[in-house]
Amino acid sequence: MTQINPFLTIRQAVKTHYETYVYPQFPLLSSVRKCDTYALNLESLWARFNGEKLYLEDKRILLAGCGGFSPYPTAVANPNVKITALDISKANLQRAKFHTWLHFYFNVDFIESDLGDTPTVLGDDRFDFIDCHGVLHHIPNICSALKLIHSLLQEGAFVRIMIYSSCARKPVQSAANAMKIMKISDVNAIRALYKKTREGNRFKSCVDSSYESRFDWGLADLFLHPYAKTYPLNELLALLNEAHLEPLLFTHQGALSDVKAEIARLRMLETSRRLSTNFILFAGRTEDSGRRRKWQEEKIKNDTLISLNPVIKKSLPLLPFLSLKPSSKLGFENPSIDAKGRFLLSKFKKPLRKSAIDPVQLATVEKYLQALFLIETAS
Ligand SMILES: C[S@@+](CC[C@H](N)C(=O)[O-])C[C@H]1O[C@@H](n2cnc3c(N)ncnc32)[C@H](O)[C@@H]1O
Repeated sequence: MTQINPFLTIRQAVKTHYETYVYPQFPLLSSVRKCDTYALNLESLWARFNGEKLYLEDKRILLAGCGGFSPYPTAVANPNVKITALDISKANLQRAKFHTWLHFYFNVDFIESDLGDTPTVLGDDRFDFIDCHGVLHHIPNICSALKLIHSLLQEGAFVRIMIYSSCARKPVQSAANAMKIMKISDVNAIRALYKKTREGNRFKSCVDSSYESRFDWGLADLFLHPYAKTYPLNELLALLNEAHLEPLLFTHQGALSDVKAEIARLRMLETSRRLSTNFILFAGRTEDSGRRRKWQEEKIKNDTLISLNPVIKKSLPLLPFLSLKPSSKLGFENPSIDAKGRFLLSKFKKPLRKSAIDPVQLATVEKYLQALFLIETAS
């Protein structure tokens, strides 16, 4: 008798789901503001975690489970980096490719593959940044997926992960389970059910609180997904640990900049069942923790160089008299860049020694550093 591999069955069901409901499906002509891609810029992230200036030759980004959109903003943030966009769904890749090409970005290779097959598909390729946003909770053998991600990271490299929190996702999961019991399997039936629900109903609140539920692809992702597992914080941390990865920075809404403090805050919110965001974090290889610690120590003791995030640098000349406020991407409200801020930031078009900064301006510089509009390196 032939044995059916449950992982393969789930993998096929997930693929079929995304071939049917391309995710996300933003209008092809919709563009992102360059300044809003600042937190995807590889040079700036590398400086944040390693304190090193990164020379872009041969640098590489992997979008592991890229979906139908993310290659475009990643290419905007990194026009000179070779980007590999990998996804199990042909339809998602097609959509992402159209979007990226339509906006004249051609530095992305598109590969149709399961993340689990990367040893064959990518061979010896290694990456400086892997973005795995909203993907791992759709993969049943998550531990081996994380170990694979670890094996694809260069020394000093990092991965960004977005993964469902059991606590935050509970209302959606309950509604999705109810759909399964009621044998609801298409978005029209979900909309019909929504029309009948009364104010205050939990399903109605789930739909009303999600921007994505306005679209078929969003409704399907919320309520019709064939495999969407959620994780409590401790399980996520244990999985990362097993894959030799450690959190470097949490970036979901309201996250604290100190990792230990954020873990304590998340634990407290989970215990009181008040956690309402999924987990978004950057993680690095535990093998690199020594070099990262050294940078954190050096940064306090030694003089450093401050320069502009290249994305912000390109955005400054636009509308020079209007203030600019890049959308918040690191979990906190961004400072706006008004005329004074613009003047201050433009001083860093060429790297400046921290010791040369006017002490009156240091607090603003620190704010811009925290927001990643400015970047700090050892030399
Ligand atoms: C919710 S979407 C997220 C897309 C994108 N990362 C984003 O944040 O917009 C999940 C994506 O992961 C892809 N995916 C799911 N399982 C995968 C696997 N085992 N290997 C590669 N891609 C996978 C899906 O096809 C889909 O495009």
